[in-house]
Parts: sequence; C-alpha cells; structure tokens
Amino acid sequence: MNESEAITKALKNRRSIRAFRPDPVPEGVLNDVLETALLAPSWGNVQPYRVAVASGETAKEIATDLTDRFNCAAQIQRAGILAKLGALMKGGVKPDGDYNTVMKYPPELGARYRETGVGLYGVLGIERGDKQARHNQMARNFSFFDAPTALFIFCEKSLGAYGPLDTGIFIQSLALAAEERGLGTCIQAALATWSSPVKARFDIPENYRLLCGVSIGYPADHKVNSFAPQRRPLGELLLKPKT
Ligand SMILES: Cc1cc2nc3c(=O)[nH]c(=O)nc-3n(C[C@H](O)[C@H](O)[C@H](O)COP(=O)(O)O)c2cc1C
Repeated sequence: MNESEAITKALKNRRSIRAFRPDPVPEGVLNDVLETALLAPSWGNVQPYRVAVASGETAKEIATDLTDRFNCAAQIQRAGILAKLGALMKGGVKPDGDYNTVMKYPPELGARYRETGVGLYGVLGIERGDKQARHNQMARNFSFFDAPTALFIFCEKSLGAYGPLDTGIFIQSLALAAEERGLGTCIQAALATWSSPVKARFDIPENYRLLCGVSIGYPADHKVNSFAPQRRPLGELLLKPKT
C-alpha cells in the first residue's frame, strides 16, 4: 500500500469511539501520536495549540468533577425556579468554559444534528422518550466513555477563526495518527463545557482557551462503536455556480 492509501484507510476507518477498554495508553505511543499530529499545517506555522494530557488519578478526578457538574446542571433544569436559583447561587454548575458549547443550529444543519442523535440512541436501543437513559448516555461524555486518557485541547485566543481552524487540523491529524496505531478517539466539545476542573490541575497560559477534549484509548467491543453516521453526498457539498 502506498502512503496516500494509508491516509484514505485511516480516514475511512476512523469513527468516534464511545466505549473504551480500561487499558492505559503507553506514554511512548501517546507521545508518538502527538508528535505525528504536530506535523499538521498551521497559518505561519505558529501552531497555536497546547494539550493537557490527563491520565490515571488526574483523569479520574477531572471526570468526577465534570460528571458532578453535569448531573447537577441536569437536576437544576428539571427543578422549579426557586430550586434553580438556590443551586445557581451555590455556583460551580453554570458552564464556565471558554467557548459556548450549547448551540442553536440553523434549520439547514439542525436536521442532520438531530438525525445523528437519533441514530446514536437507536444503536444503543434508547427510546426517544427515555430521558433517564439519554441523560446517562450524555453523562458518559464526562467520564471520557471510560477511556484511560483525556486530552484537553487549548487554542490561542487572539487569531480569530484561524486559531480554531489550525487547532481543528491538528485534532483531525491526531485522530488519524491514533487510528493508525490501533487507538480510538472521540473529539468532544462537551468536555469544554466546564474548564475549571482542567484549569485547577494544569498550568494553562492566560492567552489559551479550552476548545474541546479528546478521549483516547483502545476501543471496546461495544455496539455503540458500530455507529457510523453517513456523510452528505458530493452534490450537496458543492455550491452551484450562478446562472
Ligand atoms: C468539534 C467536535 C465536537 C464534538 N463533540 C462531541 C461530543 O461532545 N460528544 C460526542 O459524543 N461526540 C462529539 N463529536 C463527535 C461527532 O458527533 C462525530 O464526529 C460525528 O457524529 C461524525 O461521526 P464519526 O466521528 O463517527 O465519523 C464531536 C465532533 C467534533 C468534530
């Protein structure tokens, strides 16, 4: 196989992994993935990204903090107005991430977003009305779907769209390098909803913002990992010339 086929193979085989085996990722393998991802292009080669690697006890602590916040926020959503105010006053629950992770999708994109959610819950056998099961599945984001390691990806704040663009290219490079080494990844905006648990444990330069997390580890043999949402057809991608 020539090199370009290897890239296509990794692109085709990579998918978001949402169930991991507990086996740790050897430090040498993880460093190799990160160094390979550093080959990604960036505007002016400035590489405006930094990564906080959380494994072992640190990963467990961050997962506990994030899961507590998520469960608490969900409880508040269900509670009456007074309970809501009381809980919010206590603090720690309101998202304190650097970016807004709760989007209102435009109708053109919203349909696909909902379809993807329906597909994921369908694979898991979760009924549309089963709020508790949906909550539990959502909550698994915050314990990294049991991955032994979570990467928290930070992006320099002053480059407008080009900081997150460069960082996105880096993240996809990382996901493909991981795939090639038998590792699975899940890129997760959810992991940027609260940034304080990560910021409390890593030395983050003041000008860096938490863009997202990436759970990384060896994929478990679980039906959720068979979910492969379709891509739009080429004809829908291409913009039509003016007539
Ligand atoms: C920027 C970004 C944020 C994402 N956030 C989440 C997330 O918070 N939780 C999750 O389970 N998947 C998340 N995903 C994974 C997407 O749902 C997934 O990439 C998409 O459905 C396509 O599926 P595939 O990655 O399996 O090809 C995210 C992906 C990207 C690129």
